[in-house]
Amino acid sequence: MEQNRRNFLKASGLIAGGALLTPLTGHGFNSSVDETIRVALIGCGGRGTGAAAQALSTNQNVQIVAMADAFKDRLDESYKNLTAKKYKNAAGTVVDTNTKVNVPDDRKFVGFDAFQKAIALKDVDVVILATPPGFRPSHFEEAVKNNKHIFMEKPVATDAPGIRKVLEVAEEAKKKKLNVVVGLQRHYQANYREAIKRIHDGAIGDIVGGQVYWVGSSPWMKERVAGQSEMEYQMRNWYYFNWLCGDHISEQHVHNIDVANWVKKGYPVQIQGTGGRQVRTGKAYGEIFDHHTLDLTYADGTVISSQCRQFEGTWNKVDEAFVGTKGRIDSFDGKKTALKDYKGGVIYQHDDKGDKNPYQVEHDELFAAIAKGEYKFADAENGAKSTMTAIMGRMATYSGKMIKWEEALNSDINLFPDKLAWDASPKILPGPDGLYPVAIPGKTQVI
Ligand SMILES: NC(=O)c1ccc[n+]([C@@H]2O[C@H](COP(=O)([O-])OP(=O)(O)OC[C@H]3O[C@@H](n4cnc5c(N)ncnc54)[C@H](O)[C@@H]3O)[C@@H](O)[C@H]2O)c1
Repeated sequence: MEQNRRNFLKASGLIAGGALLTPLTGHGFNSSVDETIRVALIGCGGRGTGAAAQALSTNQNVQIVAMADAFKDRLDESYKNLTAKKYKNAAGTVVDTNTKVNVPDDRKFVGFDAFQKAIALKDVDVVILATPPGFRPSHFEEAVKNNKHIFMEKPVATDAPGIRKVLEVAEEAKKKKLNVVVGLQRHYQANYREAIKRIHDGAIGDIVGGQVYWVGSSPWMKERVAGQSEMEYQMRNWYYFNWLCGDHISEQHVHNIDVANWVKKGYPVQIQGTGGRQVRTGKAYGEIFDHHTLDLTYADGTVISSQCRQFEGTWNKVDEAFVGTKGRIDSFDGKKTALKDYKGGVIYQHDDKGDKNPYQVEHDELFAAIAKGEYKFADAENGAKSTMTAIMGRMATYSGKMIKWEEALNSDINLFPDKLAWDASPKILPGPDGLYPVAIPGKTQVI
């Protein structure tokens, strides 16, 4: 026992701080990787179902024991998918879904309060938070209050009050030594890790500029169905409403903006930009823009440009590039990842053979840490600040103003409805023509 305890202390790095050994959960996963780790899935859509499958595919003994969704049909579809597939873990063992997805009807929760019921279950050790991002701050708060380890998807909020909540709860999670992984999976992707480690070690000098892109196609859209309340319609078609999604600049482009922040080891002090709706102008596209471009200015004066758009039939690029005083990196696309000097010399060439799927790695590492009783992951603060950067970008393109970090973070504009119920009114409503109001640069107030 003494040996186990010592290994745990050493691994968790707590000896240096003189911290006392405290159980990480009611379970104490510090003796064996065979002990069952029980998971509740909150938000049973595409990504939540994928994340649950990845949790089941780790080398630990994981069970899904509760599921929660706003809608019963989404939960049922996810349950069907999870129980229909066979998962192979890294050791090659096929996971038996009959015993690993152990969610009887009284552990399937539906509605706006479903998350509370699932998170409150005493035997749940880990929660996967994969609803639309507008709900993340309150779900994260509930999970930390109930001492759960957490995997939560990006973005982690859609407005500044939500970000401030996540930052506050992130501190609480640190105090409680709850592992928190955020689904900014580039942090769990080998080529990014290897190249950025070298950039931070000075391989291409000081970073003085760069470009980040998510220039791609348009995602799904749901048309209004007769009989739906406004709340149900917006919840079903969440991508196009800012209180739920935050605009694609945040929902999708946060990945690339986060890489800029990671490389620069900081967050922009100011952002200006331009954007609008050129292609997606119909009713079903709610209020979000379809293109944005930004200048992100960091504390040392470095300007990184960012572009995101969701158009069909146009040039596509999802990537990042940076220039340093001694060299550059033009791409993070698998084996194209290379650090070069200005004479054409290769400083680092990534070999992507054997690189693992980062979506799987984030779960492999999280569940291994929990099984060993280690406290290793505190991703929420960076997740919140990178999401804030994207929200600040939205503030810049919606207003046409130069937006400063502090004023953006302290904005009191709260996009969330005053009440969550199927017959309650979201704050944004369609006009008589069925179209939603859209931001007008120069007129729209964002702070
Ligand atoms: N890291 C990545 O690469 C990646 C990829 C895809 C999606 N995501 C993120 O994952 C999240 C979910 O996206 P998705 O594509 O799975 O969407 P989705 O619509 O497929 O799933 C969302 C689910 O959450 C449910 N839901 C909505 N409000 C809820 C509430 N209050 N309580 C419980 N359930 C609720 C919905 O009914 C739906 O089933 C988003 O934040 C998205 O940005 C991340």
